[in-house]
Amino acid sequence: MNRNEELFNRAKNIIPGGVNSPVRAFGSVGGVPRFIKKAQGAYVWDENDTRYIDYVGSWGPAIVGHAHPEVIEAVREAALGGLSFGAPTEAEIVIAEEIAKLVPSVEQLRLVSSGTEATMSAIRLARGFTKRDKIIKFEGCYHGHSDSLLVKAGSGLLTFGNPSSAGVPEDFTKHTLVLEYNNVAQLEETFAKIGGEIACVILEPFAGNMNLVRPSENFIKALRSLTEQHGAVLIYDEVMTGFRVALGGAQSLHGIKPDLTTMGKVIGGGMPLAAFGGRKDIMACISPLGGVYQAGTLSGNPVAVAAGLKTLEIIQREGFYENLAKLTEQLVKGFQTASKEAGVTFSADYVGGMFGLYFADNTPQSYADMTRSNIEDFKRFFHGMLECGVAFGPSAYEACFMSAAHTPELVEATVATAKEVFAEMAK
Ligand SMILES: Cc1ncc(COP(=O)(O)O)c(C=O)c1O
Repeated sequence: MNRNEELFNRAKNIIPGGVNSPVRAFGSVGGVPRFIKKAQGAYVWDENDTRYIDYVGSWGPAIVGHAHPEVIEAVREAALGGLSFGAPTEAEIVIAEEIAKLVPSVEQLRLVSSGTEATMSAIRLARGFTKRDKIIKFEGCYHGHSDSLLVKAGSGLLTFGNPSSAGVPEDFTKHTLVLEYNNVAQLEETFAKIGGEIACVILEPFAGNMNLVRPSENFIKALRSLTEQHGAVLIYDEVMTGFRVALGGAQSLHGIKPDLTTMGKVIGGGMPLAAFGGRKDIMACISPLGGVYQAGTLSGNPVAVAAGLKTLEIIQREGFYENLAKLTEQLVKGFQTASKEAGVTFSADYVGGMFGLYFADNTPQSYADMTRSNIEDFKRFFHGMLECGVAFGPSAYEACFMSAAHTPELVEATVATAKEVFAEMAK
């Protein structure tokens, strides 16, 4: 039996579904997940010793490539000094100062251990600051798995949401309103009716959890002006886009100053590190200064901070983002040409080092658009590529990630593989 299969069967006995995060189980593409043995640069190897060119990048963090020697050395050095102290360290100040320098809307920040914690805390903080309960999120945006955010749209406008997961009480979700991404009229109507009750609006500023969906300029402008006008907190969830689409995150590309920002993935360089931060007057509401409680045994963990700091250093080197975007563009354009030649309905888009592949004529503007793409074609493409040694995320709804360890030659090889897979799909 193939070792991935063997391990999957064994895992299923002891870990629900065999995995510690559901998308890893290959549920939406079928087949056996690859159990990863090691990773280096642009590659991962599974337990059968099969090598893959990797465009998952640990779902975003691996922007400098896997096991970058400088990051590994920083982690080794930090680990030798002790794994965790439960007390403040100088390195936490250094990384906080570094993040605030790169993302100027962040005047103060708190370190936490996961994106889920960051968004959950930011929402509590926004509620504490505004003394309001209601929040707005957008359909198709994922902000981690806290109760207030596992919500799907209600049956009509201004109907508050329903739980999208068992175990979430309806009472929790009745304060969450789920609106359509890029729908300016709906947003305006909502604020006109209940603007004074809204604590915050949280969004993925380039949505990466319904593939890759760009916000329109009008949508972004409306979000900023309506929240400002009604005293609601605007939260940019940059857990995925932060240091991924540009050094200053999505907000630097939008020219927007959100009130709060959440970050994760890249800032930990592959270790569990995330953050939330923003306006000083809002951050002052967090304990021990203010009444909004938030804490963490491993928050600002020294080993995670060391990995994050080194990663932040590497991404600031000259030409880093130009190179990353060039590689992503090469891949996206190569796929577009290859699919066209094969006659497969396909489109693609990218921002910096993040890209989306859709089996539809046009790139989506909303979750509803995304659901109209051809998921069966995605599955065929995904498995065709995987069989040929190229790994994408095992779901049509996820964005993909480029790293600086990829090269034009590797991207060319990926495009050549895609050409064969598209041709096979067209048969
Ligand atoms: C935009 C966004 N926010 C929050 C999260 C949750 O982060 P974590 O998985 O670290 O809890 C994710 C995870 O993919 C994300 O993409």
